[in-house]
Amino acid sequence: MTTTAMMGLDEDVAMVRDMARDFAENDLIPRATQHDRQADIDPVVFQKIGELGLWGLTIPEAFGGAGLGNTALTAVLIELNRGCASTGVTLSVHNSLVSAPISRFGTEDQKRAWLPRLASGELIGSYCLTEANAGSDAAGLETTATRDGDHYVLNGTKLWVTNGAWAGLYIVYARTNSSVSKAKGISAFLVPRTAAGVSVGKHEKKTGIRGSCSVEIVLENVRVPAGNLLGELDRGFNVAMDTLDGGRIGIAAQAVGIGRACLEAAIKYAKEREQFGRPIGDFQAIQWKLADMASQLDAAELLTYRAAAKRDSKQSCNREAAMAKLMASRAANFAADECLQIHGGAGYTDHFHVERLFRDARITEIYEGATDIQRLVIARSLLS
Ligand code: CAA
Repeated sequence: MTTTAMMGLDEDVAMVRDMARDFAENDLIPRATQHDRQADIDPVVFQKIGELGLWGLTIPEAFGGAGLGNTALTAVLIELNRGCASTGVTLSVHNSLVSAPISRFGTEDQKRAWLPRLASGELIGSYCLTEANAGSDAAGLETTATRDGDHYVLNGTKLWVTNGAWAGLYIVYARTNSSVSKAKGISAFLVPRTAAGVSVGKHEKKTGIRGSCSVEIVLENVRVPAGNLLGELDRGFNVAMDTLDGGRIGIAAQAVGIGRACLEAAIKYAKEREQFGRPIGDFQAIQWKLADMASQLDAAELLTYRAAAKRDSKQSCNREAAMAKLMASRAANFAADECLQIHGGAGYTDHFHVERLFRDARITEIYEGATDIQRLVIARSLLS
């Protein structure tokens, strides 16, 4: 029995998972190497995501989405990332870091204005938190938003903006009050790509997930109506952190998906490759690697579904999301390392896709809160 079967997924979640699996098999696995080498995602993939309704997976039906929750998103992201991690993170950020906070914190007007366009894929979403001096210490951000009549004027530079060059809508975190402690004076703003003064800066050349888009976003005297404030004034850091609780479940699902691809590749190679007159899978040294990879990935998957179920039940999943990301990203990197080792020298070349999986897995221990930040979140929760 698979772990997802053990989780007793609802029929609609199982259906969407199977659809995502077919999409990954037919459209992502054949294109993943191309995405990596060309540092771009084939437009056909974006079109298919739209046809399958995945842009709006977690957006309420009233606003044009499928109205499914984090459990469904987890199931979909595991499958998609098994096929192509660049595509996986694109969809994860769009759903969990952009549509979700608008659904959770937006006014009715904001939901009506943005969610249907995000659900259809007319707009892709980006989350702009990180800056040159605000990585792990996100509350140290220096971008400002100054009130000017009925508008706010934003100035600053954001880094590592996933989907940044493709996005039609950015959620930008900016300082609105410098006279209070640093986490308390931040607000969240909905900033359309069309606003004057928004520009795309440097494109990062990354080690892995090369098909995904990670850019600098520059904001120069960008005027947005005061109605574009998302959530309460000066409480935007709480919006950012609540959003990351969901986002970290998405990255945990990404890690499980990459890890599953590694395990499958390792099993296949262990059966095919012969040394000393036998398939290498006959040797206990290889069998133990496969057993450890599978066990760690199943544990990570269960933690990820637990966090998703808790978020779907509207309880805080802060600790559970951090645990899922911590363990899943480690499991993925362990699986990628062992998979490459099992492939030997061939695995270290581009003859097999395992070298890409090895590079793709690495980011899961870094973005949406590095491994040490997940430990900090878990420890604070234990000691509070
Ligand atoms: N939900 C809601 N509110 C939360 C929260 C949560 N999960 N966690 C904290 N808060 C609130 C706190 O209650 C506190 O609120 P009050 O002011 O009302 O008391 C406020 O936020 C400040 O909290 P902390 O004192 O814990 O803040 P801190 O400065 O110590 O920071 C941190 C905590 C965990 C280190 C945080 O800075 C953090 O998560 N850092 C990592 C940043 C990160 O993950 N960045 C990823 C960016 S996105 C990305 O990777 C790119 C991409 O697109 C994929």
